[in-house]
Amino acid sequence: MNKRSVKDLDVEGKRVLVRVDFNVPLDESGKITDDTRIKAAIPTINYLIERGAKVILVSHLGRPKGKVVEKLRLNPVAQRLSELLNRKVIKTDDCIGEEPEKAVSRMKNRNVLLLENVRFHPGETKNDPEFAKALAKLADLYVNDAFGAAHRAHASTVGVAEILPSAAGFLLEKEITTMGKVIQNPEKPFTVVLGGAKVKDKIGVIENLLEKADNLLIGGGMAFTFLKALGYEVGKSLLEEDKIDMARGFLEKGKKLNTNIVLPRDVVVADRISADAEHKTVDVSQIPNALMGVDIGEKTVEEFVKYINQSKTVLWNGPMGVFEIQAFANGTKQVAEAIARSNATTIIGGGDSAAAVEKLGIADQMTHVSTGGGASLMFLEGKELPAIKALDDKE
Ligand code: 3PG
Repeated sequence: MNKRSVKDLDVEGKRVLVRVDFNVPLDESGKITDDTRIKAAIPTINYLIERGAKVILVSHLGRPKGKVVEKLRLNPVAQRLSELLNRKVIKTDDCIGEEPEKAVSRMKNRNVLLLENVRFHPGETKNDPEFAKALAKLADLYVNDAFGAAHRAHASTVGVAEILPSAAGFLLEKEITTMGKVIQNPEKPFTVVLGGAKVKDKIGVIENLLEKADNLLIGGGMAFTFLKALGYEVGKSLLEEDKIDMARGFLEKGKKLNTNIVLPRDVVVADRISADAEHKTVDVSQIPNALMGVDIGEKTVEEFVKYINQSKTVLWNGPMGVFEIQAFANGTKQVAEAIARSNATTIIGGGDSAAAVEKLGIADQMTHVSTGGGASLMFLEGKELPAIKALDDKE
């Protein structure tokens, strides 16, 4: 990577503002239901503590739209972080102004402070220069470790990086290096498994990877637009009428490039998306008019697993069905477990697929599980992420 690393900075005694992505899921009572993103930032935080820095963390949580939303305060995050670091974490009630400035001025080397949700201020998402200045005022150096927010050109991801000397944290470096290698120079055979609801969300990824991949396995809601392009009737399944021609175009291009685009042969169909819905498995040529596809069927699973087993690199993004409902989670589960068992380099491209492997308890069997949702998609599309671009280059 051509960006400066946190290792290149002299941090002892310095106030280091670290952008982290602590945008974690919370339940109704405000309890954190998945702390992966907090854990993922620990190596950078510990490194800075060990080197005697004053560590000032800044993150967003949810989308409060420039206002204080009590439920979106970072207090539960501060508590979890404190448990994980096994040390006190100072938490402020704002992220700019007198209160955090005072708290920072009282910090000693190796202290850790978490600023309040940066999106409580409208200047954050607007990348307002005055707001960025107010944040930058708190620190001497800036480190970005928030891969999950790197596709956002906000004040805490881009604005501050343009003011303070900046560098990438370990998580950001790991995401870019691991995923970068896979999309630039994958060990072959390279299989891309795509799922999720819509073709619309994956167009850029297909465009970027169709030529590089040997196999493109398509499941999830997006598969039905491809099936329709091949002339199948898909009943009440998700269908993007305006993307049928595009899907046909991808199928033709795949043939020309010698990339196998593999679609489901059988699917689980149901009358509605509900845990108690009637469901059965049918051949894709037999989808009843009144039913919708909610998962890939067993024959499809078998075929997908065969391709996964033959691969040296596997990249997966997007569930194979409505995996939140147990009865429709089989395809996602089997594909995830096959990827976990495989000896290939395995990359899980964030979002729902990352949540699925966490839930199944197999995340540690993957080479890399991205902490980014939108950010990893943009990265896999081969685009430059604004927050990475904003960091200082290596000297
Ligand atoms: C994410 O959860 O993908 C990141 O934290 C970014 O959040 P956002 O989509 O609200 O910008």
